[in-house]
Amino acid sequence: MSDFRAVAGKKAAVTGAARGIGEGIARTLASEGLDVVLADMRPEVQAAAESIAADFPDAAVHWRIVDVSSEEQVSDLIGFTVSTLGRLDIMANNAGIHVAPANVWETDMADVDKLMAVNYKGIFHGCKFAAKQMIAQGSGTIANTGSFFGKVGHPGSAAYGATKAAVHTLTMSLALELAPYGVTVNALCPGLAATDMHWAFVEADAQARGISVDEMKAIELEQIPLGRYGYGSDYAGAIMWLASKSGSYVTGQSININGGLNFT
Ligand SMILES: NC(=O)c1ccc[n+]([C@@H]2O[C@H](COP(=O)([O-])OP(=O)(O)OC[C@H]3O[C@@H](n4cnc5c(N)ncnc54)[C@H](O)[C@@H]3O)[C@@H](O)[C@H]2O)c1
Repeated sequence: MSDFRAVAGKKAAVTGAARGIGEGIARTLASEGLDVVLADMRPEVQAAAESIAADFPDAAVHWRIVDVSSEEQVSDLIGFTVSTLGRLDIMANNAGIHVAPANVWETDMADVDKLMAVNYKGIFHGCKFAAKQMIAQGSGTIANTGSFFGKVGHPGSAAYGATKAAVHTLTMSLALELAPYGVTVNALCPGLAATDMHWAFVEADAQARGISVDEMKAIELEQIPLGRYGYGSDYAGAIMWLASKSGSYVTGQSININGGLNFT
């Protein structure tokens, strides 16, 4: 067999990996024989890493407490990954937060600052230090978690959407900067993913409409052409494609991974 789709043995760091999409990405990469560092500000990242290591003993699985809004801590994460695993082939900048929806004129500016610090600067930090390492290697791929909300405006989500739009343009600029070094950069845009972040919105929407959570989920599922929520494994699939020779001609894109929910 050729090495066209080979990824086993590659080294990855995943942020926001204690739960949700990030945990699913790390778990799927380990299941495919990649070595992974899970990073998160939540202490639960240790249990997540230990569970993945127990399920996939052939993969090297490590964890780190990291607040991605700290430039120093993200720099330390890349240093730890390289000193532990030897190199960095995949940087999955996935950690993100949402806040309660609010119209622009009702938005607390502290929430805007918080969203920018984590969703934009957090990913910028990951890009900055992964780029330095990947330039030195002459290879690698960076996957930033973006969002449909960064492509199209949504009432109540101006602050969150702007951080994701910033991630998309950061992705394009960095892709151009890193192309001469053989390093690719893309954004992955979830639609509706089965995570705690999304369930909080489902609960709030159900309450606002006076219906049950299950009824609210049924309404959402009807809007997704493929009829199911997204999982970390869906995003890991794209990451492994981008990290292999088969995806090596793709850079600077904001790729929808959303079951057909939207096309922009
Ligand atoms: N769930 C969805 O439907 C959806 C849709 C579009 C985009 N996204 C994006 O996907 C990414 C993952 O979201 P999720 O749904 O898995 O959310 P989640 O809340 O379930 O998980 C996010 C993880 O990021 C971690 N995190 C938050 N702030 C951090 C920080 N400062 N430093 C380090 N870790 C931090 C959290 O502790 C958590 O473990 C986010 O960037 C989010 O904006 C999610």
